[in-house]
Amino acid sequence: MSGPEFAAPLDVLSEGTATAVTVGGVDVALVLDGDEVLAIRDECSHAAIPLSEGEVEGCEIECWLHGSRFDARTGKALNLPATESVPTYPTTIQDGRVMVDVSAPIRS
Ligand code: FES
Repeated sequence: MSGPEFAAPLDVLSEGTATAVTVGGVDVALVLDGDEVLAIRDECSHAAIPLSEGEVEGCEIECWLHGSRFDARTGKALNLPATESVPTYPTTIQDGRVMVDVSAPIRS
């Protein structure tokens, strides 16, 4: 399936915490940053650790294992040991529902 798919109700998201969802078979971490919802693949690029289990500050999500932080807007790794970006996905909000298009990953 392609195009935006339902990921979660907007009201289950809270700032400072990532929400793990599966959209179209892809594990995604949703990050609420102000009135924007960011979607980043829920897997660190350094090892297969779910990013949703780490801490969130603004648009940054931290891998708990070795502390690499990623910009959830771009997927860019902000510090070592991770050097590779993580895919991010376009999001929309429709009637209080967060929609994510995992068929159109954004790679930086
Ligand atoms: S597994 Fe994420 S930084 Fe090492």
